[in-house]
Amino acid sequence: MTRVFSGVKPTGHLTLGNYLGAMRRWADVDQHQAEALFCIVDLHALTVDHDPARVRRLSRQAATLLLAAGLDPDLCTVFVQSHVDEHARLSYLLECVATDGEMRRMIQYKEKAGREQARGGSVRLSLLTYPVLMAADILAYGADEVPVGDDQVQHVELTRDLAVRFNQRYGLTFVVPRATRPAVAARVMNLQEPLSKMGKSDDTGPGIVYLLDEPDAVRKKVLRAVTDSGREVVYDREARPGVANLLEILAACTGGNPSDLSGVYESYGALKKDTAEAVVEVLRPVQERHKELCADPGFVEGVLRDGAERARAMARPTVDAAYRAIGLLPAG
Ligand code: TYM
Repeated sequence: MTRVFSGVKPTGHLTLGNYLGAMRRWADVDQHQAEALFCIVDLHALTVDHDPARVRRLSRQAATLLLAAGLDPDLCTVFVQSHVDEHARLSYLLECVATDGEMRRMIQYKEKAGREQARGGSVRLSLLTYPVLMAADILAYGADEVPVGDDQVQHVELTRDLAVRFNQRYGLTFVVPRATRPAVAARVMNLQEPLSKMGKSDDTGPGIVYLLDEPDAVRKKVLRAVTDSGREVVYDREARPGVANLLEILAACTGGNPSDLSGVYESYGALKKDTAEAVVEVLRPVQERHKELCADPGFVEGVLRDGAERARAMARPTVDAAYRAIGLLPAG
């Protein structure tokens, strides 16, 4: 059976981008068709300036939202990265296979390190090695597929390179995984800055739809989305990024196709109105279920405890095999 692994980082409240780009497919498709693991990658949240209490809170909230989005602990494994030591153990071995140059070429590293330096801050070493930990997440479970949005594809490509290199040097140890992306909404853009990704860690609130936004807040954000000069509703990501983003969001929420939908609208106003309502409807069941789950925190804790146990049992044999293959003396 195909094995699937993916993760979400608790550095901010989860967004419509996270949902349409990744989480919805995990719930609707992956958990039904594959042996699937979904991880709240809290160690990754420590790679940038962070408040310990907030990371803990966001980790719990992310777990609750994954379940609210439809992940079913009877069908898949949901767990927290730091509860399974194998991630950090394997990450070190992969650091001995990856190169400094490779890390510095990663787009997300360049962007985040650049932003940090521009603010006069310092860049944590773990930000540089971030993709290696991500590779460890994936390779520890022998995942065949990694369902992600566009922004994570480069990291999965690096994971493939590291797996192949390790296997060539030390013998066949890892499955070489591949990224899978959604057909639409693989890169949902910020509603106020349609040339930038809608990212949960950014601070431009009005351009970001959060999964827990009230319906009226969602409507306001979508209705105020920056569109392009011009009037015709055409689907052109280069020339009309704002309108293209709305068409993609609408298509992803209604199961349509952005090009076909562009022919339906004669004004930006009507497109925004329908998009706002479509988003509200998509988020409604998630928010309802989230409310129910918040009333039962013991349930979420239990899911994470069982999930970590299952994940540990799956990861340990592969990570132990990697320790032997690379030349470390078994503890006996
Ligand atoms: P993170 O937490 O930034 O995002 C979680 C998932 O949501 C997708 N995503 C988006 N998709 C479309 N449009 C957007 N605006 C948008 N924003 C986010 C991301 O592509 C991702 O699939 N490094 C990862 C977490 C991670 C991971 C892993 C993922 C750590 N280890 C192993 C897969 C496998 C991250 O920061 O995702």
